[in-house]
Amino acid sequence: MQSPIRRALLHIAGQLALFMVLIPAVAAAQDVVVVDADLARDTISRNIYGHFSEHLGRCIYGGYFVGEGNTTIPNTRGMRNDVVAALRKLKIPVLRWPGGCFADTYHWKDGIGPRAKRPSIVNNWWGGVTEDNSFGTNEFLDLCEQLGAEPYITGNVGSGTVQEFAQWVQYTNFDGVSPMSALRKENGREKSWKVRYWGIGNEAWGCGGNMTAEYYVNLYRRFATFMPASWGNGSLSRIASGASSSDYHWTEVLMRDIPAGLIEGIALHHYAVDWDHKGSATDFTEEEYFATMQRALLMEELVRRHSTIMDVYDPKKKVALVVDEWGGWYDVEPGTNPGFLFQQNTMRDAMIAGATLNIFNNHCDRVRMANLAQTVNVLQAVVLTDGARMLVTPTYHVMEMYTVHHDALMLPVSVRGGDYTVGKNSLPALSVSASREKSGAAHISLVNIDAGKSRDVIVELRGMECSSVSGRILVSPRIQDHNTFDDPDRVRPAEFNGARRDGGTVRLKLPPCSVVVLNLQ
Ligand code: AHR
Repeated sequence: MQSPIRRALLHIAGQLALFMVLIPAVAAAQDVVVVDADLARDTISRNIYGHFSEHLGRCIYGGYFVGEGNTTIPNTRGMRNDVVAALRKLKIPVLRWPGGCFADTYHWKDGIGPRAKRPSIVNNWWGGVTEDNSFGTNEFLDLCEQLGAEPYITGNVGSGTVQEFAQWVQYTNFDGVSPMSALRKENGREKSWKVRYWGIGNEAWGCGGNMTAEYYVNLYRRFATFMPASWGNGSLSRIASGASSSDYHWTEVLMRDIPAGLIEGIALHHYAVDWDHKGSATDFTEEEYFATMQRALLMEELVRRHSTIMDVYDPKKKVALVVDEWGGWYDVEPGTNPGFLFQQNTMRDAMIAGATLNIFNNHCDRVRMANLAQTVNVLQAVVLTDGARMLVTPTYHVMEMYTVHHDALMLPVSVRGGDYTVGKNSLPALSVSASREKSGAAHISLVNIDAGKSRDVIVELRGMECSSVSGRILVSPRIQDHNTFDDPDRVRPAEFNGARRDGGTVRLKLPPCSVVVLNLQ
């Protein structure tokens, strides 16, 4: 028989021994990322880094366009020089316009010809403001040329006609003799622009006409029939109005009922938003942050499941999944027009951007275009303006850091990592994607969404050599941190010297809420 004291002492000794065994295990606990460079096959289309600009709030007017006569804000044919210069650094590959919901109310002929003669209309979707049509087709295509971006025009299916749509394509794309090419020349543009990407309506299930998938599919077939591929140098891309988030039925019907030769892309819209409680863009709790990230990371499942449906009808993956609206959506900034969707942009948005772009990179075999909503002054904007002042947001910096992935060969990654836990809920804390440029340099983008804990990461490189590693980091003490017009550089990227190469592995510590892009030579 043991005495109670001896039993207690033995128990304590046992606990201590267990503790000693666990300590090294806890200290050594780390996330493991394996980069399988020898399995690389698919290219990350630069179009994944596309943007979206609608006639909404101060995106076009005040954001990009201040009018040719403006003498206080430097501009080129009306486009703000500061905004264009900032956006050029993002190498925006493709820009979607004029909506959004606005697209299905827009009649393009209202926006061409002498400005004084253009009619004014009411922008019913966004604040009921007067739209004077001073920014129309020619201005948009001029903007794209200034940005070096390809245009992606969404046509009016909800309240427009097939003829009107087909004439728009003829106006922008046809070089031969025709009524619309004559009109274009009359408006000062001799050569066609050869616009490749065309959206056949927007959110046809909602603001684009409240249609069923079964009804829309027939409309789609009509509109697409009158847009001959020859009007786009043989490479016209017709993109069907796609599903809202997890509406898999929509994708199924479109893929089943649209003949393969009539479709090049199918859209998907998903916002990281709680429609019943959007919450403040800057003043939010960790629980709210976590909930936003849950919705943002749902993108992984959405892309997988929509792709699985598409694979059944299109196993060769000819039709692209085009996520042409994505991002965070919060309450408008206090005191601003509720219809203008103007919101600030914090490190939370940087987390959304970094993690979402990693998802798109990793699914680049099917996701071949995506368009962040929206470029300037609306929703998850990369640029904000206030009169003549301009700032770039944390999301801008992520987009800029990720330019290294444009058109690079995707390197498959697998991640074995821990969770970010808030209350009873958990999410994977670490998100990763990797690619290799033609020059041979490889890049790995890592996001730690955990608001409180840093992560020790070991990256195992398979099928690739690496003799040096450098990097950049975007991090800030608080998840609510953001740039303001008085403090525009509060959040900005810095050099990252925390990665150590060790044979075929790289070790690093990722601070809480950080985005790191490693450059491996
Ligand atoms: O991006 C704002 C709006 O969100 C778009 O106009 C619409 O397509 C979506 O519902």
